[in-house]
Amino acid sequence: MQSSLLLSPLPIPTSFSHNPKTPIRRRRRTVPPAAVAAPPPLRHQSVTHSMPPEKTEIFRSLESWAAQSVLPLLKPVDRCWQPTEFLPVSSQPYDQFSDEVRALRERTADLPDEYFVVLVGDMITEDALPTYQTMINTLDGVRDETGASANPWAMWTRAWTAEENRHGDLLRTYLYLSGRVDMNMIERTVQYLISSGMDPGTENNPYLGFVYTSFQERATFVSHGNTARLAKDGGDPVLARICGTIASDEKRHENAYVKIVEKLLEVDPSGAMTAVADMMRKKITMPAHLMYDGQDPSLFEHFAAVAQRLGVYTADDYADILEYLIGRWRLEKMEGLTGEGRRAQEFVCGLAPRIRKLQERADERARKMEPRGVKFSWLFNKEVMV
Ligand SMILES: [Fe+2]
Ligand SMILES: [Fe+2]
Repeated sequence: MQSSLLLSPLPIPTSFSHNPKTPIRRRRRTVPPAAVAAPPPLRHQSVTHSMPPEKTEIFRSLESWAAQSVLPLLKPVDRCWQPTEFLPVSSQPYDQFSDEVRALRERTADLPDEYFVVLVGDMITEDALPTYQTMINTLDGVRDETGASANPWAMWTRAWTAEENRHGDLLRTYLYLSGRVDMNMIERTVQYLISSGMDPGTENNPYLGFVYTSFQERATFVSHGNTARLAKDGGDPVLARICGTIASDEKRHENAYVKIVEKLLEVDPSGAMTAVADMMRKKITMPAHLMYDGQDPSLFEHFAAVAQRLGVYTADDYADILEYLIGRWRLEKMEGLTGEGRRAQEFVCGLAPRIRKLQERADERARKMEPRGVKFSWLFNKEVMV
């Protein structure tokens, strides 16, 4: 049942990209004719460059701090895991390779379809990585100006992207070898999603951008941690290790982004506090919110509903992450704020209980509704309860 208030906080987008040859079952969205890659729908008012130009100086002055305190949170390539370490070794004699593939298929055989919906959705989210690098490079004062800039902010973003790139690679190959999912539909979904982009409402503003990434990295840490637990319970310890290993990368990335916001709160308390409030007012959009497979206009909402039902990522997690960040950044205890900063503090620090209360009411309504099945193209149109 789709009871999540916060996993799908979006108004239904009014346009999305699609292949004009593919017939579309319309529900609540309208599609512009011949829109092959329509611009993503704007969820927020299109505010751009909302950071006052003089604040760019703050990020310049923090470059050496970033080099000393943020870059060390990356792992050197030779100490990083690589996807092949978790996969059947294709260079060994064919019999041995096929034995390893058979073992993989036996391990995944008992995992339920609903688990695969969530794992595929997570993999697709990871695979839209070009969108996230693009998003970070929209941020004033920290973007990679040349594509190979030696600026520490840019170095972080490139190396972060390179670390993240292994996540989608590994999950995609594992899913491919499992034989449980329709890879062609998954590939189409990735292509649609990268074409559509995302709209997190970060306004080219690195204050907003780093609040967003702090939240998002923790959300992916939680979500991959839960898919690890479910894989273990479902009889696939290798997949559990894969998801757990990805989760530990997310945790390290979360630490970096949280540290950056912590520093901003130190050097510009009211500016940073206002940014936290601004992002929370908008609600943190999931990065794959424009997901589409050419068939289901509500694909993201359906995926999010299954994730909520399995407890992989829930509205409670959303409130937990907010509370964690409030504690980690010591927002309740911050003093010396301007009037605007104090109002932002009051809003942020009172938000989690309000979210939980709203969610309880949404859950109550959802309980009264009949559960229904939704067909997922990723699973050869098998029906899964949402
Ligand atoms: Fe990731
Ligand atoms: Fe991540």
